Amino acid sequence: MNATQEELKLKLQQAIADAFGDEYQDVDPVLATTSNPKFGDYQANVALSLSKKMGQPAKAIAGAIVDKLEISDICEPPEIAGPGFINLRLRTSYLESQLQAIQTDPRLGIPTTKNPQREIVDFSSPNIAKEMHVGHLRSTIIGDCIARILEFRGHEVLRLNHVGDWGTQFGMLISYLREVHPEALTTANALDIGDLVNFYRQAKQRFDADPKFQEIARQEVVKLQAGAEDTLYAWKLLCEQSRKEFQIIYDLLDVKLTERGESFYNSFLAEVVEDLAELGLLVEDQGAKCVFLDGFTNRDGTAQPLIVQKSDGGYNYATTDLAALRYRIKQDNAQRIIYVTDTGQSNHFAQVLQVAGKAGWIPENVELVHVPFGLVLGEDGKKFKTRSGDTVRLRDLLDEAVDRVELDLEIRLKEDGREESTEFKQKVAEVVGISAVKYADLSQNRTSKYSFSYDKMLSLKGNTAPYMLYAYVRTQGISREGNIDLAELAGDTKIILQEETELTLAKHLLQLDEIISEVERDLLPNRLCDYLYQLSDKFNKFYENCPVLKSELPVRTSRLVLCNLTARTLKLGLDLLGIRVLERM
Ligand code: ARG
Repeated sequence: MNATQEELKLKLQQAIADAFGDEYQDVDPVLATTSNPKFGDYQANVALSLSKKMGQPAKAIAGAIVDKLEISDICEPPEIAGPGFINLRLRTSYLESQLQAIQTDPRLGIPTTKNPQREIVDFSSPNIAKEMHVGHLRSTIIGDCIARILEFRGHEVLRLNHVGDWGTQFGMLISYLREVHPEALTTANALDIGDLVNFYRQAKQRFDADPKFQEIARQEVVKLQAGAEDTLYAWKLLCEQSRKEFQIIYDLLDVKLTERGESFYNSFLAEVVEDLAELGLLVEDQGAKCVFLDGFTNRDGTAQPLIVQKSDGGYNYATTDLAALRYRIKQDNAQRIIYVTDTGQSNHFAQVLQVAGKAGWIPENVELVHVPFGLVLGEDGKKFKTRSGDTVRLRDLLDEAVDRVELDLEIRLKEDGREESTEFKQKVAEVVGISAVKYADLSQNRTSKYSFSYDKMLSLKGNTAPYMLYAYVRTQGISREGNIDLAELAGDTKIILQEETELTLAKHLLQLDEIISEVERDLLPNRLCDYLYQLSDKFNKFYENCPVLKSELPVRTSRLVLCNLTARTLKLGLDLLGIRVLERM
């Protein structure tokens, strides 16, 4: 909660206790920002809920609270509206002093958390030898944003890439490569990931059609699990190859991850099953070892099990996740583990968490959260594919965004008669292109699916990255036009808020704190996008209505500081989304 809101909440609680006695001191004042500025800035609805409990009219209760409320330094005299809402309006002098106080603060007045935690964000997590697809892109972008926000708030964040680097797919792939491309298993860089993915597809076809090949592939998996030298070496090469390709994407996106793939947990898998058996949770069902679940039923109504060891003795995705969560809680001391995957895996996580809960592996102070997101669709609303029907390669997708921006930029420069260096153009194209893809993803409520549209995400109008980046550039243009280094403005400039648009902007600037806390709690980055979009809108209105460079001192300096605070808020907010700003574009 933002400092102002927090402060008001405390004062309200105090007033309630003063009015009705100490037994009321923990009552929630039900304080929220108002939806309509007509009613002030905040509204406390506590009188309505107390009214029932106390058997008194809400209006009278509101009156009694307001009588005891000591907030005259923060708000105008409170108003009681409707059945008993307490409406609060911030004083201009309060806003001025708040803004004045954050001028030199690199964190713009946003405190670090009072209880820093060790948090794990498990995101991106593509599968070796398979192509990284748009689902992984979404996980990468959302996960990175969540990690950035938690880091900014002062949590200790472990960004884990739980890559799929183990399993039966390697048996197929290695066996197939032994036949058709043996060098790939002994020489580094003999293949690129595109080839690898093709070989994987062919291997799978072969596997599905040829029982003899199935047997060979199974043997290869056994060899891998037993640690046979040649198979292990081949596996390592394949992983290395994929890793390099993934890194290209991470570099393009400016995303940092620590790889700790599924194979890392191999030596802990047997223990998971043993411990479940010891706890009496394990049931053998048609040769497979399972734990039966509550609330998950098969079509015929029978209880559904979570398999943790297959009838052939192999472990699976769920076993690995159980081992991983134990390791993360015990060894990494994680207090919160956040999994960012598509909604398709919601059942998987609900089941794994239920089993871990039943086994007593999740201590009370540890929270495990699945952060699901919807599918990425093509512009036609169907599954996202290339024209020829193939899965889209992420690199191509990102490159295309950059290329399109470069093309647009050339046209724009020509129209404006501007000359720019190749370096400049490339930088702008890269930042705008990548930002557009990220922003398009983050600005949607992640729980819904969205259509991937270059035209929409690259538009200069609307809630898009180019629009936001322009808003920032405009603030920088003011300093260029006035030949003023905004960063050099005195740190204690007196802020003077006179016009309505100025006040509106000021209030919005002071709400970033609240938004960041919200995203930290609900893990919904689109809230931050909305905030920034509104900020640029409010800034534009201010800029249209309030002359900055042409106004007289001391208003001029105050307005310049407002411009600078807007610029810094945009920059910080975008940075938390993983988006870099440009000084010019
Ligand atoms: N590799 C998985 C996939 O591509 C995602 C892994 C997510 N993390 C986890 N701990 N299961 O679907």
